[in-house]
Formats: sequence, C-alpha cells, structure tokens
Amino acid sequence: MVTLAEYLGSEYGSASALRIEPPESEEQIVRAYLLYLQSLPAEARDFDATEGNARYMVESMLGPAWKRGEPILFAVMGETIVGATFTTLVPKQLTTPRPAAWGHGTWVREDMRGQGVARALMEAVRGRLRAVGVVRQIGQAHIDNHKSLASFQAMGFSPCGAILENKHI
Ligand SMILES: CC(C)(COP(=O)(O)OP(=O)(O)OC[C@H]1O[C@@H](n2cnc3c(N)ncnc32)[C@H](O)[C@@H]1OP(=O)(O)O)[C@@H](O)C(=O)NCCC(=O)NCCS
Repeated sequence: MVTLAEYLGSEYGSASALRIEPPESEEQIVRAYLLYLQSLPAEARDFDATEGNARYMVESMLGPAWKRGEPILFAVMGETIVGATFTTLVPKQLTTPRPAAWGHGTWVREDMRGQGVARALMEAVRGRLRAVGVVRQIGQAHIDNHKSLASFQAMGFSPCGAILENKHI
C-alpha cells in the first residue's frame, strides 16, 4: 500500500490520509469503471456509460487483469473510493519494441481533483509496471477532453498518434 504522502510530501495535509490500493472485488471495479465512464464528456466516450457496458469491460478484460495482479488501483479515503485507474499489460506477443501497458482510464472524484490524486495513482501504477519490467505506458484520450490531455501530459505522456473517427458512414 502506498500513501499519497509518500509520493507528494506532508504539505498535502488531509489528503495524506489517502491510500492507493487494489480493489477488493470485481463488483467494486464495475462501480468504479461506471463512475469513470460517467465522468467523461459524452463525445469522449468509446461507449455509453451504462452499467452493462462497465460490467462487460470488467468481465472481459479488467477483472481477469486484476486477478493476474495487473495495476488496477483505487485511491481510497477512509472507506470511500475517490479515484481509480485501470491499466492492463499488453500481451508480450503484441509488443514492439518494448513491453508496454495500456491505460483504460483514470478517474478522480470531482471534489478531489487538483490535489495530486491522479498523480499518486499513476506513480503507484508505474511502480508496479517497473517491477515486472514494463517501462512504456500507452493510453488514449479524446481530442476534446482538454483537461485529460493536459493532466496526462503533465504526468509525462506525449501524443504519439491519432485515432480517427468517421461519424457518417
Ligand atoms: C483527468 C483527472 C483524472 C485528473 O485527476 P487529478 O487528481 O485532478 O489530477 P492531479 O491533481 O493528480 O494532477 C496531475 C497533473 O495534471 C495536472 N492537471 C490536473 N488537472 C488539470 C487540468 N484540469 N488542467 C491542466 N492540468 C491539470 C496537474 O497540474 C498535475 O501536474 P503537476 O503535478 O505538474 O502540477 C481528473 O480530472 C478526472 O477524473 N477527469 C474526468 C475523467 C477523465 O477525463 N479521465 C481521463 C480520461 S482517461
């Protein structure tokens, strides 16, 4: 378990009560992933923010990754989940030139934003990735999700490609 204070220093005061830890159940991941989907602007979602879609993502991908110990992590304050990040390892067979992880989203509760929670989650993810020899993180964000793009660039990501969409086929 990693405390926010360990990453950010004691000046964060009450935020230092925050803990970064893995989920306890698949059901928690479903709820957290639904909160993540709901927090995105509608045009920035890959699919609708429904419980069914969150459940499908967890049953097909995030749950098995969590069971394998991949870095799906929650930011927890007291008994409350205030943030989450969902990262899976890219299968080695698909990875060139270096082992990589794929970020499926990061969410921080609105009233907790701007206090380093996402950065603490990201540092914890990176620690776990480095421990298994993974040194490359890939993720995606919608071009109109300016806050997300700004925050992920502040956390060391840089644009490396583009996803193109045709809304009128
Ligand atoms: C994006 C999000 C996860 C950031 O969480 P957060 O806890 O507020 O981020 P942090 O406080 O840890 O900030 C991390 C870095 O990003 C920067 N940052 C955070 N929000 C920012 C914003 N709105 N604009 C510009 N930079 C921002 C911070 O300055 C910080 O960099 P610094 O340490 O160099 O100052 C949060 O805004 C969120 O949940 N948004 C809704 C869901 C979403 O869009 N997720 C991303 C899609 S994958």
